[in-house]
Amino acid sequence: MRMTAATTTGMRVLYTHQQIEKRVAEMGAEITRDFAGQSVILIGVLKGACLFLSDLARSIELDATFDFIAVASYGKGTTNSGEVRLTKDLDQSVEDKNVILVEDILDTGLTLSYLTKLISAHQPRALKIAALLDKPARRIEPVTGDYIGFTIPDEFVVGYGMDLGERYRNLPDICVLPGQKI
Ligand code: IMP
Ligand code: MG
Repeated sequence: MRMTAATTTGMRVLYTHQQIEKRVAEMGAEITRDFAGQSVILIGVLKGACLFLSDLARSIELDATFDFIAVASYGKGTTNSGEVRLTKDLDQSVEDKNVILVEDILDTGLTLSYLTKLISAHQPRALKIAALLDKPARRIEPVTGDYIGFTIPDEFVVGYGMDLGERYRNLPDICVLPGQKI
């Protein structure tokens, strides 16, 4: 059976794949304009940003390379204890490069605050944040995204790369899982 929001009890579609596609193309066009004539490195935060990065990259008409970084935050399920550690580092040097950190969702800001500090230490020429979703209500660290797809209320979402206990990443739409404690 094909997994869709409709086949998963209680799930509600927040953004359809068509809406996501349109918005991601706009974000790619904005990045293309901002970095016209330059090269960029897209750094995806595993695993949630994988689908977003793959669509965003195809909307960026620039000389681009990819890299991936992975972090773990202590805490189970949907809770976050606030400690972030690196589990996979970059493969290439970002010194004097235009870096775009690509993340699925900017929530408390702990992950991106940690990653921007880490990457800044390597002296990139520019460092920007592209996050598909922003949940400003839960911010702990004062992180602002440079390219934001959608700003959403304080609800737990899955799909289009985002998970709950590793499930639902393959849903094409972004869906709300009601009743999840964050
Ligand atoms: P932050 O460090 O709290 O900003 O959270 C960043 C990470 O938490 C994201 O990359 C996601 O992996 C995860 N996250 C936060 N909110 C959600 C959500 O609503 N659904 C799925 N994952 C989430
Ligand atoms: Mg993530």
